Amino acid sequence: MKGFIFDLDGVIVDTARYHYLAWKKTGEELGFELSIEQNEKLKGVSRVDSLNKILGWAGVEISEEKFNRLMDEKNEDYLNYVEQMTPADILPGVKDFILELKAKGLPIALGSASKNAPRILEKIGMLEYFDAIADGNSVKKAKPDPEVFLVAAKSIVTAPEACVVFEDAEAGVEAANNAGMISIGIGSPDNLSHADHVFSDFTLITTDFILNLQPKH
Ligand code: BG6
Ligand code: MG
Repeated sequence: MKGFIFDLDGVIVDTARYHYLAWKKTGEELGFELSIEQNEKLKGVSRVDSLNKILGWAGVEISEEKFNRLMDEKNEDYLNYVEQMTPADILPGVKDFILELKAKGLPIALGSASKNAPRILEKIGMLEYFDAIADGNSVKKAKPDPEVFLVAAKSIVTAPEACVVFEDAEAGVEAANNAGMISIGIGSPDNLSHADHVFSDFTLITTDFILNLQPKH
């Protein structure tokens, strides 16, 4: 029997624009303007790694104290956006897709880098759909390390090779591949060509197609 692991940001909800607005403000404090192209490179990247990338682009070095303060301020700003989220923020097709899998009695887990995952799922009314949640609070190593997906698989008692992962980020697809799982990229083949299959969104994916996929090993 297969298990299904969903990334959150960019797969279930489009939060990238909220992360962008919040990191842009951080950049301004460092005298740096974060571009939309740079924000693309932050997709799927943990909070700590994101700030390190921004500091690198800005060519700025800061104390540990300031680093922690900037991370806290960014998260506070981001959470203000999250508080305004509603079920209307759910990306096309994904809710029906998950409901179809659930109707078949199949296990569903979240595998996200975000430490805000439970709050976001609560705001969009999807928290109770998940049998298990592996997120930024459950793991030490960030994607492309496979840890978050392996923790998710364990929580739904499914062997990694029987898991199907849905991911929008390059590092996320890499993490799924590193875990030995079937990787489904949500987005463009331009940057997700390392996924086993790529779809632009869930309206184009049938549960039959996914259920018939064969393990890689
Ligand atoms: C990922 C997002 O899902 O979670 C990243 O794509 C984000 O942009 C990361 O940095 C960590 O999220 P959070 O909510 O804990 O800051
Ligand atoms: Mg993502």
